[in-house]
Amino acid sequence: MFDGFSRKIDYLRLSVTDKCNFYCMYCRKKDLIYNTIDQLSKEEIFMIISAFKKLGIQKLRITGGEPFLRNDIFEIIDFAHSIGIKNINITTNGWLDTEKIKKVIKSPLKSINISLDTLEREKFRYVTGIDGLDKVLRAIDELKEYKRVKINTVLIRSVNLDEIEDLISYAKKSNIIIRFIELMPIGIANQIFEDEFVSKDEVIKRFKGIKEVATDKVSTAKYYYVEDFDYTVGFISSVSDHFCKTCNKVRVSSTGVLYNCLFDTNGLKLRDYLDAEELLLKKIEDFVKKKKLIRSLKSDMPMFRIGG
Ligand code: 5AD
Ligand code: SF4
Repeated sequence: MFDGFSRKIDYLRLSVTDKCNFYCMYCRKKDLIYNTIDQLSKEEIFMIISAFKKLGIQKLRITGGEPFLRNDIFEIIDFAHSIGIKNINITTNGWLDTEKIKKVIKSPLKSINISLDTLEREKFRYVTGIDGLDKVLRAIDELKEYKRVKINTVLIRSVNLDEIEDLISYAKKSNIIIRFIELMPIGIANQIFEDEFVSKDEVIKRFKGIKEVATDKVSTAKYYYVEDFDYTVGFISSVSDHFCKTCNKVRVSSTGVLYNCLFDTNGLKLRDYLDAEELLLKKIEDFVKKKKLIRSLKSDMPMFRIGG
């Protein structure tokens, strides 16, 4: 399917839950109560995935919240695969026990993105509210032998600006891809944004000998070879730059609302049309046609609902 600016939209990011067992300082706060609202059922998710497949979606990323908290998550992944979506990926906080890790390894998932903002136990607890560093590191270690694993590190001034080098060394030693993500002023991150934001340029300035590496045009991450480390690292600089010109994605929230952009506030409630597929397909196509050329940058939408 194409939008009004002839961009081919073939990538769906689907948030399957707004529940999470972590409380990342830029996403959910421990002292706030989050009522899970009207989470999509498995059947609704199947209908939504089928509709987008019919509209030409080739790549699916499952997000949350924490997607592995759903006990039907592997059924969802298998369903997407069974209808011919080959490029299925997931973003997780990495809190996975042995049994889940085994299932992930057996699943048709193509890649797993794991959030890891620090390698220090106390800081990990500070950022996420959970004493979970060892468990996450173990999951990364086991998964990387079988699946493509990428680390997502949100740049946070008071937490990891002094850890960039260690994080790159860790990624290199483990032979996994690391991407540093600029903090985005979304949801509660608005409250810490001014103090904690670190730009890609600020980080890059610290390295000697850095060279941009060409990647496929639609990737939101830019990759740089860093001579100091003899390693290539990624940056997702959604604040300093925007990638709107080549944007190929749309998002569905955990409540079944379609958004053309992470920063949009107006969405299409897919649930209103789930019992009439032809109408659903038409409504989605019409809505995607209205995708804006360039995004705005501030949003009050909680990240755990729309999906990172
Ligand atoms: N800015 C940048 N990244 C964020 N994430 C969650 N909230 C924000 C934010 N405000 C990240 C998570 C995870 C991915 C899903 O999105 O750390 O890596
Ligand atoms: Fe959970 Fe991810 Fe939000 Fe952290 S960023 S609280 S892991 S949904």
